[in-house]
Amino acid sequence: ILIAPSLLSADFSRLAEEIHDVERAGCDLLHVDVMDGHFVPNLTIGPCVVSAVRKVTRLPLDVHLMIDNPVKYIAEFRKAGADWITIHVEAEKDVRKTLDEIRRLGAKAGISVRPKTPIQEIFPYLDALDLVLVMSVEPGFGGQSFMPDMMEKAKTLRPRFSGLISVDGGIDPKNAAQVIGAGADVLVAGSAVFGKKDRAQVIAEFREVTKKIS
Ligand code: DX5
Ligand code: ZN
Repeated sequence: ILIAPSLLSADFSRLAEEIHDVERAGCDLLHVDVMDGHFVPNLTIGPCVVSAVRKVTRLPLDVHLMIDNPVKYIAEFRKAGADWITIHVEAEKDVRKTLDEIRRLGAKAGISVRPKTPIQEIFPYLDALDLVLVMSVEPGFGGQSFMPDMMEKAKTLRPRFSGLISVDGGIDPKNAAQVIGAGADVLVAGSAVFGKKDRAQVIAEFREVTKKIS
């Protein structure tokens, strides 16, 4: 199980220190939430921040694009240092072309689904995907409550998909067992990690849960 702290809940005025803190705490990758104020009502970060992050860590960067027309920007995010690039199925006209382009650029290709979007909508693309990001909150903001019903999507997907299943939104050590039980390989957690002073403690709690299950 991979643990991916979401930078959205980090202190942006001390981003490098925050990254080093979770890196030392033993996380596996960094989740970077990109929002455009169109696809979601919030605005966050762009390629220049991703390249700044790239300079201070060797952790893989898992870039979650909550933007319309992502095909326009993937080359720029890849150049900035994104290792995994996830687009939303609802945000792109030519999903397959975009996923192929992500792989052609040498990144892992991912697709995400909003809570209201049936998981079946991504079935036509499974062969073009390295990961699927199941949203367990409405995309746009950190710190929302986990939607347990979304785990049905991971369960439906698991037997059909051999790539990584990632779950994003409202995850903490208390509901982690349920998320892993549904078939998740990657746990994205923003406020549960950065909201606590002792990040090593939180990551250890997550690891404890994974150990108990396996
Ligand atoms: C929500 C983002 C999430 C969010 C997770 O739109 O995609 O990655 O930052 O934060 P928490 O864990 O606080 O829900
Ligand atoms: Zn995210």
